[in-house]
Amino acid sequence: MGNPFNLFLLTVVMTCIWITEVASDEITNIFGTNDSFFSSFPRNFLFGTASSSYQFEGAYLADGKGLSNWDIFTHEAGNIVDGSNGDVAVDHYHLYLKDIELMEYIGTNTYRFSISWARILPKGRFGSVNIAGIKHYDKLINALIGKGIQPFVTLTHYDIPQELEDRYGGWLSPQIQKDFAYYASICFKYYGDRVKYWVTLNEPNVVAIRGYRSGLYPPARCSASFGNCSSGDSEREPFIAAHNMILSHSAAVNLYRAKYQGEQKGNIGIAINAVWYEPISNSLQDKQAAQRAQSFYMNWFLDPIMFGKYPEEMKNILGSLLPEFSSNHLQNGLDFIGINHYTTFYAKDCLHSTCVQQGPCVSKTEGYYLRTPTKNNIPIGEPTAVDWIYVYPKGMEMMVTYLMNRYNNTPMFITENGLGEMHQPDSSINAFLNDDSRVEYMKSYLDALISVIRKGADVRGYIAWSLLDNFEWLSGYTTRFGLYHVDYTTLKRTPKSSAHWYKQFILNFTRFEAVYRSTS
Ligand SMILES: *[C@@H]1O[C@H](CO)[C@@H](O)[C@H](O)[C@H]1NC(C)=O
Ligand SMILES: *[C@@H]1O[C@H](CO)[C@@H](O)[C@H](O)[C@H]1NC(C)=O
Ligand SMILES: *[C@@H]1O[C@H](CO)[C@@H](O)[C@H](O)[C@H]1NC(C)=O
Repeated sequence: MGNPFNLFLLTVVMTCIWITEVASDEITNIFGTNDSFFSSFPRNFLFGTASSSYQFEGAYLADGKGLSNWDIFTHEAGNIVDGSNGDVAVDHYHLYLKDIELMEYIGTNTYRFSISWARILPKGRFGSVNIAGIKHYDKLINALIGKGIQPFVTLTHYDIPQELEDRYGGWLSPQIQKDFAYYASICFKYYGDRVKYWVTLNEPNVVAIRGYRSGLYPPARCSASFGNCSSGDSEREPFIAAHNMILSHSAAVNLYRAKYQGEQKGNIGIAINAVWYEPISNSLQDKQAAQRAQSFYMNWFLDPIMFGKYPEEMKNILGSLLPEFSSNHLQNGLDFIGINHYTTFYAKDCLHSTCVQQGPCVSKTEGYYLRTPTKNNIPIGEPTAVDWIYVYPKGMEMMVTYLMNRYNNTPMFITENGLGEMHQPDSSINAFLNDDSRVEYMKSYLDALISVIRKGADVRGYIAWSLLDNFEWLSGYTTRFGLYHVDYTTLKRTPKSSAHWYKQFILNFTRFEAVYRSTS
């Protein structure tokens, strides 16, 4: 043992060195990513991973579940590129406890999943509640909470009971408002004591467009000039379906606010597919085209929910094709906006000019603009294996800024963001496990998110799409978005580099919080 006084001196000297280092280096490396980065995230920021019932659960006939529109659609030959379906998917229905262990490994504090409507109400409101379905999500929610993971629950993520299609044409009928409100009330009643984040609809804009304009998603309706459907009306039906989605959302929100929110103290919102559009030039026409692109895609839903009316750009172009709201019961109809953001495109005007040379314009029903990923043959961002994703992190910043300004800085969550890879039959699992491009993508988008949070945007969480590789809609199992690789023969899950990276990132953030925010 040495002289205690020397030990004391040594301690003083060491402390001084440490303090000096901290002061001069901004703690660049106690936490890896520096302190000014982490300190920009608000307290209690949610970091999560996402999934959805049809893409993950499988067990499509288990325990009294009814058939959904996606069950029917994927079973029709030719609809899915690899001829696959979600009958088994990644069997999350049975493996959810294992999957929660994977979340625990990463250290996320939220998990976004959706409830299968047909599992709870196989026949909609025309039949009884399936108690086995209720119990399944009960166990899932309890297991998550037991691990400190907040359930972030979507009521419908594309899949609806086929019964509602068969009875009255699904979203095309105002009757669905009643069904949706009933379904929502059951979920609030059974789960609302523990669920503090509700998303009514996932990407209603995509459902309206793909279900009723291009006919690529169920119920596969479109006009002959828009796609290959047996029936439909691409000019009219997307707006009718959307109108019923908006009113269904609003019915669920009104019900939640009137009967449940006071006691349950949760938040309710919607998740919109949010593509950023950069004007292809500085001309006023192209700037207006980019604005129209937002209005015809995103504000189409958010404006009625927030302001009680459709955007002016839409009314001007669509006239009577756009339904009217009969009463003024919509306004501030959400507590948060969920943003599913992956990519950016250029928009070029086609209303005042023709742009045939560069490619086909979107039609009247989408607002007359040319959507293109390139300008003078140069892509807007690095192209990726997924043909619709270009890496353009600035788009995240622009998108959040736009929503912050338009909707008075309503709280926002990034409810989806991520990168896919294409499955090659000859590629080994290792090609997927070393997913540095996904890590780079996430880093750059999180960096962009931090910049806009610093400018005052009220963003409260970031949820990566997706926890696992899964059934990617029309692409079947050919596109992999997971932080974990799934072997579709054995269903074995293996962490990719991105899972390890996200873990380290969250760990560093958690350490930062523990050191600097432990006082309260
Ligand atoms: C986390 O911190 C470690 C240690 O300082 C650092 O090496 C690493 O780069 C950081 N990782 C992330 C993802 O922030
Ligand atoms: C800390 O992070 C912020 C945001 O990412 C960055 O702007 C700044 O340059 C970083 N500082 C250091 C010392 O690395
Ligand atoms: C259109 O659909 C029919 C019937 O499903 C199919 O036979 C035909 O190949 C499709 N045509 C195109 C161009 O996809």
